[in-house]
Amino acid sequence: MLDESKFDVDLNLWALRIPCQLCKAATRILNGYLLDKPRIKPITEDPTCQKNRYVILSDRVRSHDLSEISSQKLDELKKLCEVQVIPYSLTLGYSYWSADHVLKQILPPGVEVPSSFETIGQIAHLNIHDELLPYKDVIAKVIYDKNYPRIKTVVNKVGAITNEFRVPKFEILAGERDMVTEVKQYGAIFKLDYSLVYWNSRLEHEHIRLVSQFQRGEIICDMFAGIGPFAIPASQKGCIVYANDLNPDSIRYLKINAKINKVDDCIYTYNMDARKFISQLMEAPVCENNAECNVSMLKACEDCSVQDNEESRIENTRLGVEAEEAHASVSGNVEDAKDLYKNIHTFAAATKRPSDCCLQENGSINGAGATDASRRKGGTNKRLRALELPNTKPWEHVDHIVMNLPASALQFLDAFKGCIQRKDWKGPLPLIHCYCFMRANQTQELIVSEAESALNAHIQEPIFHRVRDVAPNKAMFCLSFRLPEACFKDNATIN
Ligand SMILES: C[S@@+](CC[C@H](N)C(=O)[O-])C[C@H]1O[C@@H](n2cnc3c(N)ncnc32)[C@H](O)[C@@H]1O
Repeated sequence: MLDESKFDVDLNLWALRIPCQLCKAATRILNGYLLDKPRIKPITEDPTCQKNRYVILSDRVRSHDLSEISSQKLDELKKLCEVQVIPYSLTLGYSYWSADHVLKQILPPGVEVPSSFETIGQIAHLNIHDELLPYKDVIAKVIYDKNYPRIKTVVNKVGAITNEFRVPKFEILAGERDMVTEVKQYGAIFKLDYSLVYWNSRLEHEHIRLVSQFQRGEIICDMFAGIGPFAIPASQKGCIVYANDLNPDSIRYLKINAKINKVDDCIYTYNMDARKFISQLMEAPVCENNAECNVSMLKACEDCSVQDNEESRIENTRLGVEAEEAHASVSGNVEDAKDLYKNIHTFAAATKRPSDCCLQENGSINGAGATDASRRKGGTNKRLRALELPNTKPWEHVDHIVMNLPASALQFLDAFKGCIQRKDWKGPLPLIHCYCFMRANQTQELIVSEAESALNAHIQEPIFHRVRDVAPNKAMFCLSFRLPEACFKDNATIN
């Protein structure tokens, strides 16, 4: 238990009783001699008379005769009104002091005071060092008290992250036990359960830096999408996004966030290992000339009901979409891709399509040709309305591939060996944005050679962007490069 009274500091001060209408003039004269404490006003009520106020003097003014104040100022004041000096006591208690001040009183001298923390919506995330663990509850209480209601839960990370979903283990130290919260990043809202999914508010700038390189109408593939901090702003910008994550909770929240931000028409979500995802996304249909087969091996992970499918089919018909085009959009049932091999000939109705955001065959957007139907369709991203239907399939063209799993993304580059068919592909190969860590004893050349050996191809003009320092000798980087032509299926040697 924290004894809050221990932080009380009593101040014995002097105040002047001044008529209300003269307070402004009096404080101007007394400038430099007034009480100067953060969050405390030097003018307060006179409990004996409503027509007066107390003007509280600084603790530098020690004597009743105000001899610390210059005689010139005192004369000026006396000309203004009769000067009545009154003793004034003030207690600065626990609620007055900052978290830093309180914690400095509680914790052993010389330790680094953990008064700053990462904020995730209403959650304060602490990383309390081992030597301060005996104080963890009191630290959390002070941080909670001093930041409520902005902060409603205080958590501490326990141990290192070991699981593949990159979700730390937390202990809740103060406040509500619910770790579902909402975060805003550059105009987008992200709902998440911080105990179940990966989130790092420190990446906000990086998310936007990368998305700013995407052009409206481009096709983006996010192999480790999390709850969508690249995918959502990219689709808000008018991109079509194929977003995958191994963590089912991440995908659940990604879908929620796509809906909240009204871009669910432009994001296809998948829940599988990134290697499998990329190879299936890039897999062209087996029998290309058959309209019924014109669908990827990969099915998007949507909970569309039969009714949704039917609505979508009707919508497509309204928009005057050729059946063949409709079949080309990625399906929306949760179903293992393996079954698709069986189902591919019978797959009939397009269940979800980015009906308002769209690419022409050449990858450009035609914003002029809005159909009445596309304008009528409600609930979609307003910014994307009035655009036409996309034609490009992921095995024909993807502009950017995002790989934000810095601990091991480089190793996943082998997924690109021979995954794209040259005969199907249109336009330049995708730009890969692969995140990685670099230690002080490593060089950019070493990272590039690791990437090249995973791809089994030479990388031309690699670009490194330093994202942030994660430890004294370790930084996170984004390595961007165009996928080498040697990775085309007919070139690549697949081990
Ligand atoms: C560092 S987080 C990045 C998430 C998101 N892109 C962001 O910037 O916040 C990495 C994500 O990769 C996912 N992940 C880990 N291993 C994976 C795999 N083999 N395949 C697909 N996703 C994986 C994790 O669940 C996690 O959400």
